[in-house]
Amino acid sequence: MKLATKLIHAGIVPDPSTGAIMTPIYQTATYVQESPGNHKGYEYARTQNPTRDTLQNALAAVENGNYGLCFASGSAATDAVIKLLNPGDEVIAANDMYGGTYRMFTKIFEKYGLKFHFINMQDAKEVSQYVNQNTRLIWTETPTNPMMNITDIEAVATVAKGKNILLCVDNTFASPYLQNPLDLGADIVLHSATKYLGGHSDVVHGCLIMNDPALNEKLSFIQNACGAVPGPQDCFLILRGLKTLHIRMQRHCENGEKIAYWLKKNPRVDKVIWCGFEDHPNYEVAKKQMRGFGGMMSFTLKDDSMEAANKVLSSTTLFSLAESLGGVESLIGHPATMTHASIPREERLKTGLVDSLIRLSVGIEDADDLIADLEKAIG
Ligand SMILES: Cc1ncc(COP(=O)(O)O)c(C=O)c1O
Repeated sequence: MKLATKLIHAGIVPDPSTGAIMTPIYQTATYVQESPGNHKGYEYARTQNPTRDTLQNALAAVENGNYGLCFASGSAATDAVIKLLNPGDEVIAANDMYGGTYRMFTKIFEKYGLKFHFINMQDAKEVSQYVNQNTRLIWTETPTNPMMNITDIEAVATVAKGKNILLCVDNTFASPYLQNPLDLGADIVLHSATKYLGGHSDVVHGCLIMNDPALNEKLSFIQNACGAVPGPQDCFLILRGLKTLHIRMQRHCENGEKIAYWLKKNPRVDKVIWCGFEDHPNYEVAKKQMRGFGGMMSFTLKDDSMEAANKVLSSTTLFSLAESLGGVESLIGHPATMTHASIPREERLKTGLVDSLIRLSVGIEDADDLIADLEKAIG
């Protein structure tokens, strides 16, 4: 099946008890057994839930994987992957990934004896320099937030291969519509399904997808033992969101391209960072591994001040000033004071995250209306 068909049908069967075409929300904590151990495959809802099972199968199919596991959030999915490790293990991670992942690695897991190396993931050679006998995991996110840097997944997978090192790719920004990391050699794909998979800014959810049965067994054990599972209603919302991912993403990409080119021509705008521009430093890699360039972008102003950024951020109407991304509605954000506020100014300036940098999650409204909104705000 091609992706559009998989998104609508894969893993989904009419409900066996009623024939309902939409997977019911099995809002139950437990299941009745006929006699001890004699049950229908469901014992307790932290361990198994039919709504969650259906979603896990659907997610595995759309990421071209064998197994899917759902979690209460993208962060809970990240937490489960790190719990595969033992004290003394080392992780090589991207130095410009989602701030919450950085915070979890440094503030929660370093104290359990794990060592993290945060490096530039745009160059696989640099990654190989940090590999040693303790390396057990390479963690990357591509494109990154908010600088839109791209990791060459195939090249980094080659670095990990044959060394007992897992490669986990956070595919939240691209979504399975644009990129399938397992096909490029990754061992685990992670999504904050809160974003494009859900697509409607109405649910917090996360998932992992993989091919290896032994890895699935270990992560299923963590999912059940640690218990950060999503509720069935949240699983239902992601199942519903998945069905339109392809048409939403198509429009996100079309609108993203129009807005990126419009911003580039605006005299008050300094730099536009969108991985579909030929002058983006990782354009060739993006073209090779992605099927489009998406609706996420950042731009800076010629007047690189907090005041100038604030004026734009408070003047849009259709672009709502809010955290998060990937919903049908357009969002505007200010990484320096929002998602990346915990990073000291000198540090963020080194990665290009200047005071006037503004991030857009371009939604699926009419592109002309979105451009008019930005024109009003930027001038
Ligand atoms: C790229 C990326 N990964 C992971 C997460 C964490 O996901 P959640 O907010 O669902 O816990 C986010 C959240 O913004 C994200 O942007």
